Formats: sequence, C-alpha cells, structure tokens
Amino acid sequence: MKMQTGELLYKGKAKSIYRTEKDDELLAVFRDDITAFNGEKKDEFAGKGEYNFAASAFFFDFLEKNGVKTHYLRAVDERSMVVSKLDMIPLEVIARNRAAGSIVKKFPFKEGQILNPPVISTDYKDDERGDPPINDDLVVALCLLTPDELMNVRETTLKINRILSDFFEELGLILVDFKIEFGRKDGIIVLGDEISMDSMRLWDRETMESFDKDVYRYDKGDFMSAYARVVEKINQWKDSHME
Ligand code: C5P
Repeated sequence: MKMQTGELLYKGKAKSIYRTEKDDELLAVFRDDITAFNGEKKDEFAGKGEYNFAASAFFFDFLEKNGVKTHYLRAVDERSMVVSKLDMIPLEVIARNRAAGSIVKKFPFKEGQILNPPVISTDYKDDERGDPPINDDLVVALCLLTPDELMNVRETTLKINRILSDFFEELGLILVDFKIEFGRKDGIIVLGDEISMDSMRLWDRETMESFDKDVYRYDKGDFMSAYARVVEKINQWKDSHME
C-alpha cells in the first residue's frame, strides 16, 4: 500500500519525516543515503534504505513485545513506517558491551575489550557543536530530562541492550554498541528514531567481522552485503519463530 506523503518536516542524514493526515502521527521514510564522520563521507546505494527499514521495523516490534514503548505504529511499504509524533529529546544515548570506535580513541581501552557492566554514555545532539559528550548534571541543567526521566532513560537503555544482545547472540552476532534516541509522548518517555545497522556495531561471534556501518566508514568491504546478511538472519529468525 502506498501512502500519500504530506509536507516534508525534517530531512535527516538517512531518513525523511513527513506530516500525515493525523496530527499525532508522522511518516518516516528510510532513504538510500549513507553518511559517516558527521557527513564528511557520503554516498547513495540503491536499496540501502530498505535494509535499515526492515531492521528498524523488526526491532521496534520486537522491543514492544518485550515491554519497551516505541514510536513505531505500522509499516506502510518496504521503506516507510508510520510513527507516533514525539517531542524529541536532543540526546544520543550510546550503550556499549565492548570497546570500539570513539571510546578506544578517547580512553585506554583495547579494541574489542568486554565492558561488564555495559557502559552507557550520552552525547548532546547538535551537529554544529560536533555532538559533544554530556553528563547527567548538564542534562538536568539544560532541562532536557528530569532526574527521574534520566533514571528511566538509563534503565530503558539497559533493558533494550539486554533484549537486543540476547537476540543477536541467537543470530551468532555480538552487539558491540548502539545509539538510540528518545522523545516524549503525552509526558511519557518513548524510544524514537531508528535501530539499524547504521546505528549499531555488530560483529560475527567467530570471525569478529563487522556487519554494520563500520564496513562503509572504514572501507572494510561491501557494506550492502553486510546489511543484507543481517536482514537475512533476522528473516530466518522470524521464519523459525512463526507461531
Ligand atoms: O562513534 P562511536 O564509537 O561513539 O559510536 C558508538 C555507536 O553509536 C556506534 O554503533 C555508532 O554507529 C553509533 N552512533 C550513531 N550516531 C552517532 C554516533 C554514534 O549511530 N551520531
């Protein structure tokens, strides 16, 4: 079913958000664009949006079934979903189970080192400021979250991490880290944005090969095949868990 798109409200690096006929619902369209290093590297690959859409739709649905409130309402076509309109909180919440990426550059961790308990850190979402790291006191001082909401966001992030880590373990993949964003709907904190191979690191349990945006970032190979493989594994899991 194709849906008539309304006014474009926001164009992100890989998604476009449109108005719908309902005030409290938006249409999120996953485009084929891929960017890295705050937009310094960018490309377009036909079909990429469909892979990230498929992963995001599955994860939102899976998390809802496991008791996490998300903005996901329904799929419209192979790259568009209707979501609840949220009042977005400009924070990027990152959960890490292993050291990789920026924390290996910033701190004396070894690449791949297990982080137990998992490490959660938060960046202030602001491209012009380079998404600086932010701490709890700053979040409260900027009135981005109340202290109670901060605790809620932390607990929800840990819960999402447990659910997704267990899921990927079944697929033979390690969830190294991921980034999520939250918003408010009727005063309640709800998971928004997307959960896809663009926003997580996934390593093969045996070979430690990457199946995520690092393949594109660091020219490690064919990132489209890596994304396709993750979606294929998700679909195989779905087929084997049909009631
Ligand atoms: O770059 P860094 O190592 O801090 O990223 C941690 C995780 O958060 C990675 O999975 C990365 O893809 C994701 N991330 C993101 N969007 C950002 C920053 C990080 O999806 N703006």
